[in-house]
Amino acid sequence: MPSHPPVLLKAEGLSKRVSPERWLFRDLNVSIGPGEQLALRGASGVGKSTLLNLMAGLDLPEEGRVLLKGKDLAAMTKDGQLSLRRSTFGFVFQAFHLMPHLNALQNVMVPCLLAGLAFSQAQERAERLLEALELTTVTRSFPSVLSGGEQQRVALARALVHQPEIVLADEPTGNLDPETAHKALTLLCRTCREQGAALLMVTHSAESAARLDRTFVLTG
Ligand SMILES: Nc1ncnc2c1ncn2[C@@H]1O[C@H](COP(=O)(O)OP(=O)(O)OP(=O)(O)O)[C@@H](O)[C@H]1O
Ligand SMILES: [Mg+2]
Repeated sequence: MPSHPPVLLKAEGLSKRVSPERWLFRDLNVSIGPGEQLALRGASGVGKSTLLNLMAGLDLPEEGRVLLKGKDLAAMTKDGQLSLRRSTFGFVFQAFHLMPHLNALQNVMVPCLLAGLAFSQAQERAERLLEALELTTVTRSFPSVLSGGEQQRVALARALVHQPEIVLADEPTGNLDPETAHKALTLLCRTCREQGAALLMVTHSAESAARLDRTFVLTG
C-alpha cells in the first residue's frame, strides 16, 4: 500500500473567476501538511492573495473545494467557520488590517481573548511576542503612528499569539528592510516550528522561499 503524507489543508480542483471572462486559475490543486512550511510565489496579479483567502474560507471558489483535515470549509455552518478561523488559523494580511482603535499590545491580544484565554495570559503572551519582534517601545502606540514595518511586525505577532495550527501570511516581510525582514522571517519560521504550526507564505523573494520546506508557483 502506498503511504500518503498527512494533509492539513488542501485545495482540490479549485477555480476562481474574477469577471465573466477572466479566470484567475482553474483546477488548482495544492496541499500543506501539518507543520509544513510552504512558500507561494508568482507574478503580481496572478492570484496569490485570492488563493490565500480561499484557503481560509474567506472567499468562495467557482469550482472545487478547500478541505481542512478532510472537512469542506464551505459545507460548515457560519458559526463553525468562525470558531475554526479563530482557533485554527493565524493571518498576516497584505494590508495588515490592524484595528485602528486598539494599540499594538491590544491588537496582538485579540486572538487570545477570542480564543477564551484569561486577560493576564493573553497580555503575557502578546508582550513576549512583541518583545521578540523588537517592538517593546511601541506596545502602547496606535497603528496610525506606527511605521509600515512596525505595523507588519504587530500583524505577525497577532497571527502567532493564539498558537494556530496554520499561519497564512501574505508577504509578511514585504515592508521591512532586509535585516529586519530576515529577523522577522526567522522568528516566524521558528515560532511555527516550535508551535508545530504549518505556514503558507506568499513571497516575491526567492531567498525567503528557499528558507521554507517547499515552493508552490502560481502561474496565470
Ligand atoms: N473581487 C474581485 N473582483 C475583481 N477582480 C479581482 C477581485 N479579486 C481579485 N481580483 C483581481 O484578481 C487579480 C489577482 O489579485 P491578487 O490580489 O490575488 O493578486 P496577487 O497575486 O496577490 O498580486 P500581488 O503580488 O500584487 O499582491 C488582480 O488582477 C485583481 O485585480
Ligand atoms: Mg497579493
